[in-house]
Amino acid sequence: MPSPTEKQIRAALATVIDPEIRKPITELDMVQGVELGEAGAVTVDILLTVAGCPLKDRLESDIKHALAAVQGVGLVTIRMGVMDQAQRQALTAKLRGGAAEKEIPFGPDSKTRVIAVASGKGGVGKSTVAANLALALAQAGYSVGVLDADIQGFSMPRMLGVENEPTQVDSSILPPVAQGVKVFSMGMLVPPGQPVVWRGPVLHRAVQQFLTDVLWGELDFLIADLPPGTGDVPLSIAQLIPGSELVIVTTPQPAAAEVAQRAGALALQTHQPILGVVENMSWLELPDGSKTHVFGEGGGAQVAANLSQALGSEVPLLGQIPLDQTIREGGDAGLPVVTGATESAAAQAFKQIAAALSDN
Ligand SMILES: Nc1ncnc2c1ncn2[C@@H]1O[C@H](COP(=O)(O)OP(=O)(O)OP(=O)(O)O)[C@@H](O)[C@H]1O
Ligand SMILES: [Mg+2]
Repeated sequence: MPSPTEKQIRAALATVIDPEIRKPITELDMVQGVELGEAGAVTVDILLTVAGCPLKDRLESDIKHALAAVQGVGLVTIRMGVMDQAQRQALTAKLRGGAAEKEIPFGPDSKTRVIAVASGKGGVGKSTVAANLALALAQAGYSVGVLDADIQGFSMPRMLGVENEPTQVDSSILPPVAQGVKVFSMGMLVPPGQPVVWRGPVLHRAVQQFLTDVLWGELDFLIADLPPGTGDVPLSIAQLIPGSELVIVTTPQPAAAEVAQRAGALALQTHQPILGVVENMSWLELPDGSKTHVFGEGGGAQVAANLSQALGSEVPLLGQIPLDQTIREGGDAGLPVVTGATESAAAQAFKQIAAALSDN
């Protein structure tokens, strides 16, 4: 059997994607050398970004798998080293895609659409909507990040089932990837059970750091899950990312609708476009197929109509999400309905909303 060429080996290595950074290892300058020996033996020198990289085993098996597919490859030896300071800096500079260090990469020239999910009231399903829309966009082939901007009431690590810790590379942080989306949350920094007791200015700095220090890479969408209300963090997001857009979540209840509207009206001041309203917990389907409207009816449409009037431009009702026990269970288990119960009416509704957002 003919021996493989170095070119073939490098081509195979180019199919190996770094599980954290989500780019081919060859583009990340992680392949330091390739040596060919007798009888198709191949030795590859790989440079990890940090020592004790948690995904080392995964990388090793992916490399072996890719090389096994090359004809004539015999014994494969993988030598793992670690990047030095200069190599790491070169990599983080590359990952920032030209944006200077400590600069928010989502300025007017960025191709990333930042969509913040907001509501006036707590517990209406912002985080559920944010998580499911992010997953639906990722399923549609977009590169997606989720910023858990609810610093004090974070929920994304659990909701998206984030298993890995973020890896620090110099002064930057690689966001863990869960179900195909990059996620960053305060929940990854504080020990379980410990409250985050911060005032506005500190929260603002935290949001800023989540945007500057996390290596988000080239995203199509960054979905920001906001805390309830019109407090510090929604304003920080509006200020730090002037091009960000809003999605307003409400339940069908008149009281919730009123408060949701306030969150929307804030957009008048921040000049953020409102992409639309999502009505959550719209109805419960009974075993006989009939629907019962546990939280009343019409809140979503009402908010959309009132915001359209207040803003002087059409704010659509993007969709209605049923009340469904699998949504709650999926959120608790780290497998939101879009990935966990793909055929459910709720998952379909989220996918339609995601499609409407991406066409926008
Ligand atoms: N359509 C739904 N059907 C059933 N349960 C739901 C639905 N939407 C959300 N839930 C559940 O309701 C609870 C609150 O939802 P979620 O955490 O998404 O709301 P939130 O608006 O982000 O809350 P907070 O204001 O506290 O951040 C969660 O347990 C979630 O699983
Ligand atoms: Mg929430």
